[in-house]
Amino acid sequence: MSDTNKPVGDATKVVLAGRRPEWTQGIVSPPVWRASTILYDSVGHLRESATKDTHHRLFYGRKGTPTQWSLADALTSLEPGAEGTFLYCSGVAAIAAALLSVLSPGDELLLVDSAYDPTRGMAGGLLKRFGITTRYYDPMIGAGIADLIGDKTRAIFMESPGSLSFEVQDVPAIVAAAKARGVTTLLDNTWATPLFFPAIERGVDLTILAGTKYVVGHSDVMLGSVTAAPGHFKKLRETSFQLGQVASPDDCWLGSRGLRTMAVRLAQHQSSALTIAKWLQGRPEVAQVLHPALPDCPGHDLFVRDFKGSSGLFSFVLNGGDEASRAALIDTLQLFGIGYSWGGFESLAIPADPQRYRSVTKRDAAGPMVRLQIGLEDPADLIADLEAGLDAFRQARG
Ligand SMILES: Cc1ncc(COP(=O)(O)O)c(C=O)c1O
Repeated sequence: MSDTNKPVGDATKVVLAGRRPEWTQGIVSPPVWRASTILYDSVGHLRESATKDTHHRLFYGRKGTPTQWSLADALTSLEPGAEGTFLYCSGVAAIAAALLSVLSPGDELLLVDSAYDPTRGMAGGLLKRFGITTRYYDPMIGAGIADLIGDKTRAIFMESPGSLSFEVQDVPAIVAAAKARGVTTLLDNTWATPLFFPAIERGVDLTILAGTKYVVGHSDVMLGSVTAAPGHFKKLRETSFQLGQVASPDDCWLGSRGLRTMAVRLAQHQSSALTIAKWLQGRPEVAQVLHPALPDCPGHDLFVRDFKGSSGLFSFVLNGGDEASRAALIDTLQLFGIGYSWGGFESLAIPADPQRYRSVTKRDAAGPMVRLQIGLEDPADLIADLEAGLDAFRQARG
């Protein structure tokens, strides 16, 4: 049993991915190989080993073991056309390594205004300290990005859909403009995963996942990955090794375990989230549902053109109300936990305030916003829970 090059469906792909016989040794899943020290037979063997590439070869624990190689290999195989994947201890660590593999002092980064806040924090903190400037751009800019590309622009960072407000970007148009000017493109693809948006096939150079979300799927592990197009993996790997990056074998094993069910989980997240988003559309307390698969979401036409499916995270804007009435809604929910992150089996709700994290775009919303992560519970139960929450909101709003 190993990877196959025959075209197969997503559910088959994630079952087969990364299970090379030399790593499984006949066991269904590669076991956890924990290691720091690797022992050699002799000084000669140790010296000889140091002269060879460590790709898929035991050398020292920091260079990984079959447990990590298997998950990295699996993620590469989910991205048609990709050269390789490096794993990290979190999604943010993956974003940092990807950016540092591309940018040098004096360079400029174009960063989408709807990026995840810690990505923005990295640009204004670490990158700025190293003499890298950042210019924010409107998530709806599309081909217009060409006008922002200057002599110092080295990279364009996209996140589609955007954090909290879910604007869908025109990735192919941005990629085309970047390629014409020799600029590297990076995409935070955590929402769609390669199953719903095969980023490398769409021309992206470095595609990033917070594996913490859908890969792991159980809200109990932090993981990140960067998958690189040909020509970009060597630098990514070199930079990541220099940064001392290594994802723990135990966490990677849990990531691999999660991956086996990712396609079926995503199908359920998609179906339940759409059911609930459509139900919310019909509620008088709701002014707008920001779900990429629904027409109210900026960039919905691009979603229809480019994506193969939608996942379980979206936001909605309340009709009027304030901080207190929004809190009344969320605090009333019994089946939705209140907490950060998403992509696990359980539903979550948080207040979302994207306007706090914007530099060049403004959002005029009818009321406060709530972000929902729709888990694997029965959608009818989640709807009943939300109904009680909206009742509480109405009463608190007056
Ligand atoms: C879109 C997006 N990218 C990256 C991350 C960071 O992932 P991690 O929490 O694993 O560092 C998150 C976390 O919420 C996220 O929502």
